[in-house]
Amino acid sequence: MKTILQNMRIIDETTDIYGAVVIEGGIIRAVIATDTVADAENRGTAGLKAHGDSVARILDGSTMRPGQVLTLMPALVDLHAHFRDPGFPEKETLESASLAAVAGGYGTVVCMANTNPVIDTLEKAQVLKARSVRLGLIDLYPVMALTRGMEGGELSGITALVAPSETRTPIPCPRMLSEDGRDVAGDARLLAAFAEARRLGIPVSCHCDAGGAEAETAKRFGKSREVWSRIEENVATQRVIELGKQAQCHVHIAHVSTKEAVQLIRATKVPLNKSGDETGFTLTCEATPHHLGLTEADARVLGAESWGRVNPPLRTEADRQALIGAVLDGTIDAIATDHAPHTESDKERGSPGFTGLETSYGVCMTELMGEDRLDLKRLSSLMSAAPARILGLIDRGRITPGNRADLIIVDTGASWVVNPQGFKSRGQNSPFTGRKLRGRILMTMHRGRVVFESDSID
Ligand code: DOR
Repeated sequence: MKTILQNMRIIDETTDIYGAVVIEGGIIRAVIATDTVADAENRGTAGLKAHGDSVARILDGSTMRPGQVLTLMPALVDLHAHFRDPGFPEKETLESASLAAVAGGYGTVVCMANTNPVIDTLEKAQVLKARSVRLGLIDLYPVMALTRGMEGGELSGITALVAPSETRTPIPCPRMLSEDGRDVAGDARLLAAFAEARRLGIPVSCHCDAGGAEAETAKRFGKSREVWSRIEENVATQRVIELGKQAQCHVHIAHVSTKEAVQLIRATKVPLNKSGDETGFTLTCEATPHHLGLTEADARVLGAESWGRVNPPLRTEADRQALIGAVLDGTIDAIATDHAPHTESDKERGSPGFTGLETSYGVCMTELMGEDRLDLKRLSSLMSAAPARILGLIDRGRITPGNRADLIIVDTGASWVVNPQGFKSRGQNSPFTGRKLRGRILMTMHRGRVVFESDSID
């Protein structure tokens, strides 16, 4: 059966046209530029339309605001989420996280290994992946920890992995490795893990919030979290860049949050980008919607040691502006949620992290778009095409024939107020509660099948 999405504004990182997309067998078969803006508006029938017997569904244009043009974009790709499964069903499950993901417009998600048990063997990763395939909502890529049990000792099952490019199994190998917030303490051990990542040709997501003698000293002398965690991030970022260069692997820096780390990454990337990828060392990085949208002042209002607590912490306005600058000049490659659901009592007790899958698109539209800022093409690049490239997934992130029909329909003109009670995620711990955000996900398609529809669609 064919599905035709027409009278849409079609956006991806290189496209901004009015027209139609034809889907068959879960794949985009054609992208046809047919309509002008005026055409689309005059017809007033934005949405999915009947084409003979091959109707998928009809979206009634009369429920739309007059003159509204719906925007079709590639589904979002998240490089960093915590699904809490197995082990922490009170915070989140694979099912609730996947529903949250599709409600937020995500089609592909990388989930971290800090579960119970830790995902440290291919078998454990594949159990989660197989459950996700059965659910059929998103394409999930469980990360594998670098060391057994994330204890910093013996390397995990990564030594037994076969590179994704060489596997032919239906449930492939992970596309990213990470020790999550722990980082590996010993340089020799981390270099050994980086060598495995190089062999596999996949990135290591480095969270850069652990260790460092300077940070430990600052902590011992009773300096505030803001002080020692900044030193920690900056020192850890420098360290993984140096070790990544030695190992000639792909280092991906997670949730960059300080202006110094931004500058370090920029300074490292400029010559790399100029001379091309000669040694195999690749450096990419991500920023989160909460670090782009909030500061330490917001954390204080929320409760710096409870509802406003996150790793790395919300920082100063100067840091936030540096991050926005880095998004604009391309230093930051991707936006990732660091979706970290917690229960109410865990937050009250100070567990760090924010639920984020269902607000990230709206936060990014609200905070990053506008004159002298991002347009929708760049936003799409940061949230879909670039993260897909980082994972080596060449069949998504763009609206182009042959790609998977992982798509979202967005009302870019709509605004809405964040109310966690309406979340699909079990985590209600949003720092954006009560905020008005621009941009609403109306529909999410996974391989051509509608997996989420907002209440505002009939
Ligand atoms: O605040 C955080 N919480 N940051 C992370 O990177 C991990 C996360 C968690 O697992 O709760």
